[in-house]
Amino acid sequence: MNISEIKTVEHDVIVLGAGGAGLRAAIECSKEGLSTGLVCKSLLGKAHTVMAEGGVAASLANVDTRDHWKVHFRDTMRGGKFLNNWRMAELHAREAPARVRELEEWGAVFDRTKSGLINQRNFGGHRYPRLAHVGDRTGLEIIRTLQDYGIHQGIDIYMECTGLDLIKDGDRISGMVGMWRDNGEFIIFKCRAVILATGGGGKAWKITSNSWEYTGDGYGMAYEAGAELMDMEFTQFHPTGMVWPPSVRGTLVTEGVRGEGGILTNSENKRFMYDNIPDRFAAETADSEEEANRWLEGDKDARRPPELLTRDVVARAIRKEVKAGRGSPHGGAYLDIASRRNAEDIKRKLPSMYHQFKVLAELDITNERMEVGPTLHYFMGGVKVDANTQMTRVPGLFACGECAAGVHGANRLGGNSLSDLLVCGKLAGSGSVNYIKSINNNHNLNNDAVQKIIRSATDILNREKGENPYLIHEDLQELMQNNVGIVRTDELLSEGLDELSNLWKKFNNVKADGASQFNPGWHQAISLRNLLVTAESVARAAKMREESRGAHTRVDFEGERDEWLQYNIVISKSNEGTMIVDKVMRDEPDPELKRIAQLSIEELENEVLLEKGE
Ligand code: FUM
Repeated sequence: MNISEIKTVEHDVIVLGAGGAGLRAAIECSKEGLSTGLVCKSLLGKAHTVMAEGGVAASLANVDTRDHWKVHFRDTMRGGKFLNNWRMAELHAREAPARVRELEEWGAVFDRTKSGLINQRNFGGHRYPRLAHVGDRTGLEIIRTLQDYGIHQGIDIYMECTGLDLIKDGDRISGMVGMWRDNGEFIIFKCRAVILATGGGGKAWKITSNSWEYTGDGYGMAYEAGAELMDMEFTQFHPTGMVWPPSVRGTLVTEGVRGEGGILTNSENKRFMYDNIPDRFAAETADSEEEANRWLEGDKDARRPPELLTRDVVARAIRKEVKAGRGSPHGGAYLDIASRRNAEDIKRKLPSMYHQFKVLAELDITNERMEVGPTLHYFMGGVKVDANTQMTRVPGLFACGECAAGVHGANRLGGNSLSDLLVCGKLAGSGSVNYIKSINNNHNLNNDAVQKIIRSATDILNREKGENPYLIHEDLQELMQNNVGIVRTDELLSEGLDELSNLWKKFNNVKADGASQFNPGWHQAISLRNLLVTAESVARAAKMREESRGAHTRVDFEGERDEWLQYNIVISKSNEGTMIVDKVMRDEPDPELKRIAQLSIEELENEVLLEKGE
């Protein structure tokens, strides 16, 4: 293979992934004068960011003036069961309002309050209405805005190009090899830093809100390059995915439906969330319909309905109803907005949901109840990065957004993904700028590494015979759904890991038929390496963490165990190629942050009032 015949382009920085995090990071780099290449697997604008439909969380305090970054921080830490990286959660809550206002300056058109401010709605686990939104299309508006702004800054976009693997010069990053999805040709990106913003790996599960692009590419590439993965056991099952018809099973039904007052009922027409309020939420959650109705009518002192408990709690409660035989006909629960809001409000506030159910399920949500159930939606874990710069332990390799770990701990609050990607995308951009300024310019592409990457992709086509990539993927999804799902046990996880090792063997002999052009089977086969790294790291971390915390539920180790709060589970690749799984002691938190997180809500509200001079 003659490397000099492969097209090579050079940039200061390559951002892989063009969802909100990647776009925001690229904008930051480009603003600071770096030559920036943005590489995306799909068409620009088609990103999982649009799946955060209901809003972006930021303590703008437009709807409830008591809101403040400290309350947002406290909510995020409590939602994450205190396993969040304290500094990241602080930066996220502090900087989210500025990032939202900046979006508005760049042209995002948010819904307004009557007095003309950015409107904010309720979401699970957020103390006040905090989600700035655009109906139920918030992620889409954010992508549209960042895309327009970024393109006009002169970022170079490489669409429909899969990132295969990273290239290092010694220890540090010097490039990446990509492959054009249409003609199957390779491209070499020479650069001094790479920012991974590839989202999560939901496609390892059968029922997921994620689309085909989400195959854990950033996790696989970072792991291969020597970076660490952290908190991989915490995979979020969004409680409300569509369960019917089968072709769209898993498609997201925004939490905004519950934020606008929607309720969950079972086949006996019982509002079952009242029976599922964990003790630690009891003081802040309505325990009667009457109080929940007061909240719906806008009484700010009423406690919040139990449908707005955190996602882990709601997902487990739905699963419990289904297991007890009280589910809906297709194995979910009922989500009812029709009896809570008039048709006009529903169509105005939730236009995409109205349209989605009409078109996909032939159901009118202004009249009928929806059937919903848990769907794998988000990874709280991901690539381990420094809180201030988003750099991994590999010099020149950065990660942000869902691809990176830390902000959300054991469970993410809805709407915090959009604020995370804006805040941490910007931090990753400025982190790369500072890194690039600090190094000398001599960096070389390592031809042997390039050859190795290309050979491992072309071997898949050149084998005489081998395993079918689609069947490996199907088996993987089945096993992750059954063995590494919402509830886990040592037995299920051990069995899952055994099956994973069989799938690894099959992958090592995977064969795609046909040529390199327009070959989806080849693309599927290439993505399997990353899916398997993702799946194995989740299963191994889940097996090691012998407690139930946030989104990780072990029925053989019920409840949170204090000793586990001291550790993150960190994964890396050994020199022999095996997966190392370590329990790593967490740093002591900053005392001031610890104090804020531990205040009662009344104490914190008083402190905020004093600070605001009210
Ligand atoms: O339900 C939703 O609109 C999803 C939001 C999120 O994941 O942040």
